[in-house]
Amino acid sequence: MTEFEQDGYRLFKLTGCAGCHNGPAAGGQAYQKMGSFNRFETNNPAIGRQAITGLRSDRMRFKVPTLRNVELTYPYFHDGSVKTLEDAVDTMAWVQLNRTFSRTGNEKVVAFLKTLTGDLPRIVLPILPPTGPDTPAPQPFQ
Ligand code: HEC
Repeated sequence: MTEFEQDGYRLFKLTGCAGCHNGPAAGGQAYQKMGSFNRFETNNPAIGRQAITGLRSDRMRFKVPTLRNVELTYPYFHDGSVKTLEDAVDTMAWVQLNRTFSRTGNEKVVAFLKTLTGDLPRIVLPILPPTGPDTPAPQPFQ
């Protein structure tokens, strides 16, 4: 990693991003509120995990996504309303941590996040036998 990318990594930790985006996948370990400090402004109303659990305390809670390959997984957030990684980083700093990055700070964090890009997993679909009279009917979801 370059000095610039390492600065981004330090900034990522110092600012508090790693409080939620942590572990081997830099995320994927918890549900957290989207908008811990400031409201996430979007035109697409959602209630997050409350839609599943019915709990008021789960309002606007979402899975903390992994940041692996985040450079490739735009658009960002649950509603895909943020188009660029630069914007996503500034949005996170503001809504989750009440912080504002300088232009260079933002560029450093983005540079760090781009070091998390690797080979995407190759998914090979199985070839299933043809459907016949003995094929079991699909099971409904539990
Ligand atoms: C309080 C926990 C928390 C903190 C702190 C936090 N995040 Fe997040 N982050 C989340 C959650 C939850 C989401 C998913 C939000 C959604 O889908 O609407 C997310 C989404 C993201 C995304 C978009 C990923 C995608 O695939 O859509 C990026 C990029 C990101 N965070 C980077 C950061 C950076 C950089 C920081 C520090 C400035 C940070 N996060 C701090 C919880 C957090």
